[in-house]
This record gives sequence, C-alpha cells and structure tokens, in this order.
Amino acid sequence: MRTSRTIIRLLEPDEAPILLRYRMENRAHLEPWEPLRQASHYTLEGCRQVIEAGIEAARSDRGYPFVILTPDSGDMIGSFTLANVVRGVFQACHLGYGIASRHEGQGLMFEALDAAVRYAFGPLDFHRVMANYMPRNERSGRLLERLGFEREGYAKRYLKIDGLWEDHVLTAKVRAEG
Ligand SMILES: CC(C)(COP(=O)(O)OP(=O)(O)OC[C@H]1O[C@@H](n2cnc3c(N)ncnc32)[C@H](O)[C@@H]1OP(=O)(O)O)[C@@H](O)C(=O)NCCC(=O)NCCS
Repeated sequence: MRTSRTIIRLLEPDEAPILLRYRMENRAHLEPWEPLRQASHYTLEGCRQVIEAGIEAARSDRGYPFVILTPDSGDMIGSFTLANVVRGVFQACHLGYGIASRHEGQGLMFEALDAAVRYAFGPLDFHRVMANYMPRNERSGRLLERLGFEREGYAKRYLKIDGLWEDHVLTAKVRAEG
C-alpha cells in the first residue's frame, strides 16, 4: 500500500535492524499500551524471527503484521497488524497499531489506517475489522472514531496489557454492502 506520506508493507528478514531501532527508540512510549515483552523483543535475532513468522502468517492468511515506512523505506513510522483472522461466516480480524513518538500528532496513523481498512475490505476481503482500546487511551479512541469505527461494547479485564488485565472499549467497522 502507498499513501501520500508513507509506504506500507511487510518487512523482509534482512530489515530486522529497522524494526529493532523502532522498538528500542519507542520502548517507553509503547510499553504502557502493549503486552509485557520478553527480552528477545529487543534483540536483532528476535526481530528477524518475528519478521519471518509474520511473512509466514500472511502467507497462510493468519495475520498481517504491516509496517509503515517513510517513502524511501529508511525509517519506520509505526506498525499495525490485522490479527486473529477468522474466515467462514465471520470474515473478521482484530486491528492493533502504534506509531513512533516522534511521528505522533501528524495524522500519519490515520492516513495509514485509512488505507489499511480499505485494503482489509478490498483485497483481503474482510467483512468486519475490530479494534479495542483502554478507556484512558483517549488518542486511540479519537483515532478510531475518525476512521468510522463504532462502539459495540465494553469488556472488563479483557487484555493483559503491561502485566495487568485491563478493561477495553470494543469497536468495529463493518464493510458497507453493495
Ligand atoms: C494511538 C496512536 C496511534 C494515535 O496516534 P496519532 O498520531 O495521535 O493519530 P493520528 O494519525 O490520527 O493523528 C491525529 C493527531 O494529529 C493531528 N494532525 C496534525 N496534522 C494532521 C493531518 N495532516 N491530518 C490529520 N491529523 C493531523 C491531529 O490534530 C491529531 O492531534 P490531536 O490528537 O492532538 O488532536 C498513538 O498515540 C500511539 O501509537 N500510542 C501508543 C500505542 C497505542 O496506544 N496503540 C493503540 C492501542 S489501542
């Protein structure tokens, strides 16, 4: 995918240094919103392995871990994943995302996720994309609202984030029929 300010694609295994740099630079920024990470999350070999696993997941239609890059592909702006793919009568997935602190507040995540949703409803043929956020993550809530996600519920102690079971607001965007 291409947007006016980004390129969105899977990383190649030999690009592990780009992922490692992003994770190291944004560790304190992202950790409050993510699961507890193992030490390998912050090693070159761990990054290489996760990229390889991501390529395999996409190939087998289990999940799509995309990265958002600057147009020259030199810098990683952020990432998002279309995960937990269920086909059959559901045709749905969960969307998770994060952006580097120095790229926050510029509309870049909106730009990337707008393209992501179109890709999900187009080539990937999903009918429903679900995204959930902690009530105190107001930035994330605003972003989803702008993208047209609608609130569907509230789940108590839903995901274990940074070591604690956290309540989440459940939202989804459903493909328009036609
Ligand atoms: C949640 C998160 C992705 C939101 O990122 P973001 O950069 O605020 O999102 P957007 O791309 O929608 O940018 C919106 C902001 O850019 C501003 N902006 C500047 N230029 C803009 C432009 N050209 N177009 C649109 N918005 C623009 C908007 O005013 C808005 O600022 P505001 O929130 O202060 O009003 C980010 O805060 C993040 O990564 N957080 C940590 C991880 C996380 O929480 N992940 C989600 C877990 S559910």
